[in-house]
Amino acid sequence: MRLFVRTFIGLIAFVVAITPSLADGLPQVEVWKDPNCGCCNKWIAHLQDAGFDVTAHNTRRVGAAREKLGMPNRYASCHVARIGDYVIEGHVPADDIKRLLEERPMAKGLAVPGMPMGSPGMEGPRSESYQTLLIGSGGNAKVFAEH
Ligand code: CU
Ligand code: CU
Repeated sequence: MRLFVRTFIGLIAFVVAITPSLADGLPQVEVWKDPNCGCCNKWIAHLQDAGFDVTAHNTRRVGAAREKLGMPNRYASCHVARIGDYVIEGHVPADDIKRLLEERPMAKGLAVPGMPMGSPGMEGPRSESYQTLLIGSGGNAKVFAEH
């Protein structure tokens, strides 16, 4: 009986422990960015507003982080992130990331190369149109969303 009670308490503790992550349903985001880049912080704020839990690492070697995560350099922007098994490069809108997590395609992740004006974190007086690319495991790209 005592064993049963202990198992039961253990089960409740487990359920309580996993409940917050089930409640919001969004995996942790880990970002590597340059310490002096303001637009990176604004992109992080955009993700947080969308309900993501974000951890940021400041580094002068974002390129090294990108390489380690396996995102080809030709899609480079100012920051790179990991969300679950996916890599996110640049100012990718939170809604695109949510769609990626829902559809779960076989892919490396998403990229918005460069820093297009008007993308999340790059708001300003003008906006340009840009694409979010789905990067395949082999490094190929196809259009995931038009903005
Ligand atoms: Cu930027
Ligand atoms: Cu950035």
